Amino acid sequence: MAIINYEVRLKNSSSYDKEDIEASLRKIFELFDEYPTYLIPKAEKARIMRYINEIMDETDTKNLERDFNIIEECVAEIIVFEENENRVGLPGAKLGSFHLYHVDKADGEEEHIDEEEAEIAACQTWMLPNRSFYGLWESLHYKSSLKSDLVKYAETSFLLSQKSVNNTLISWNKVILFHGPPGTGKTSIAQAFAQKLAIRQICGYQNTALIEINSHSLFSKWFSESGKLVQKMFSKIRDYADDKTIMTIILIDEVESLTSARSGSANEPADAVRVVNAVLTQLDSLKKYPNVLVVCTSNITGKIDLAFIDRADMKIFVGMPEPKAIYSILESALNELYCKKVISGEYTLRAGGYDLPNPTDSERTLIAISDAAEGVSGRTLRKIPFLALMKFCEGAQQVTLENYLNALEKAIESDKIERQHLSDPEEKTSMKA
Ligand SMILES: Nc1ncnc2c1ncn2[C@@H]1O[C@H](COP(=O)(O)OP(=O)(O)OP(=O)(O)O)[C@@H](O)[C@H]1O
Ligand SMILES: [Mg+2]
Repeated sequence: MAIINYEVRLKNSSSYDKEDIEASLRKIFELFDEYPTYLIPKAEKARIMRYINEIMDETDTKNLERDFNIIEECVAEIIVFEENENRVGLPGAKLGSFHLYHVDKADGEEEHIDEEEAEIAACQTWMLPNRSFYGLWESLHYKSSLKSDLVKYAETSFLLSQKSVNNTLISWNKVILFHGPPGTGKTSIAQAFAQKLAIRQICGYQNTALIEINSHSLFSKWFSESGKLVQKMFSKIRDYADDKTIMTIILIDEVESLTSARSGSANEPADAVRVVNAVLTQLDSLKKYPNVLVVCTSNITGKIDLAFIDRADMKIFVGMPEPKAIYSILESALNELYCKKVISGEYTLRAGGYDLPNPTDSERTLIAISDAAEGVSGRTLRKIPFLALMKFCEGAQQVTLENYLNALEKAIESDKIERQHLSDPEEKTSMKA
């Protein structure tokens, strides 16, 4: 049977206990024949109350009015788990869990390591869920299994930790590596995954910290001291890990700069070996902490030390988005332009419209654009809507969907030509001539 789960972001001002809010949510949601996929209480109140009035007698309605007021006072937004999105309307679906959370508004805090006369920015720490990563997970579109694989990984890891499974018999290192070409969303998915773990408390911890290690500054500036610095930094990390109430997620972005293959380091090979060894030893020592997860990203897998790659439980290739994901990325951008009234008139695109039945004309156009954009990175796709407006809408303040789609098509075409020129300078010269 399908089970529908929700994430519920609470207003920071809410004065009710989470239990009360959840009870009210449950009461209201149980009245639905079809569970809502997305709801902001204020906008939906009239519709929901009308629905409730039809099926309830007056006394019950009064009680529900109180529940509704609690929701309205405390809840900022409710979204359905995306793995449930297609099941929400199913008859007989059962209401599962509500994950209620507040977002922390504090920006990442820089932590420094004192090194002789200088202070080195070693890492940045956030308490999660954090406003900085709000909505990030939902904004990322990959081939369908990537996100659910991550969630399954965390759930399995938590299950084995909870059952105190012997790590020498079943070994998992709590290290994940995202690798792939530039601009495909590796850093973003790593941050978004950490935020998701915190919201759903998948690993069972009430508090979650994300520590993002600045591998570049550690490695390049203080090359000859790097081995020692790695140790110092990890001892800071252990301070967090020792607090058993906190789930600590360590993000080592662009890990290749820390672990660039021992043989490949031309200038100071001995030091490179020391650094790699220090990182590997430290990673091994973190293995015994059930509350630590290490997430690494790299866009040059070939340069990472093999011993390091071997330690990663999951090596996830993050590639260029497929046409269906491209459609979702572009549609979310168009939707934003429509909501902010840059696109005017009728808006006839549906989210996830790439494979919905009976596509509208605009959907057909966007599908064709998405097919043509295969091979373009997520980072470029997020920029193209801006370029389309700038270059191909003749400075208009407002533009119709049809005209904007035309501009989008041209912008993608023009980006392709520019990239071709960059990769083939000879052609560029001959074209100029
Ligand atoms: N698949 C995607 N879906 C939606 N947005 C994406 C996707 N891939 C990248 N983006 C967007 O592109 C931008 C860059 O992403 P990010 O920095 O995470 O890429 P990266 O793979 O870490 O790049 P690099 O290898 O250069 O470090 C972000 O704003 C991100 O939201
Ligand atoms: Mg990155």
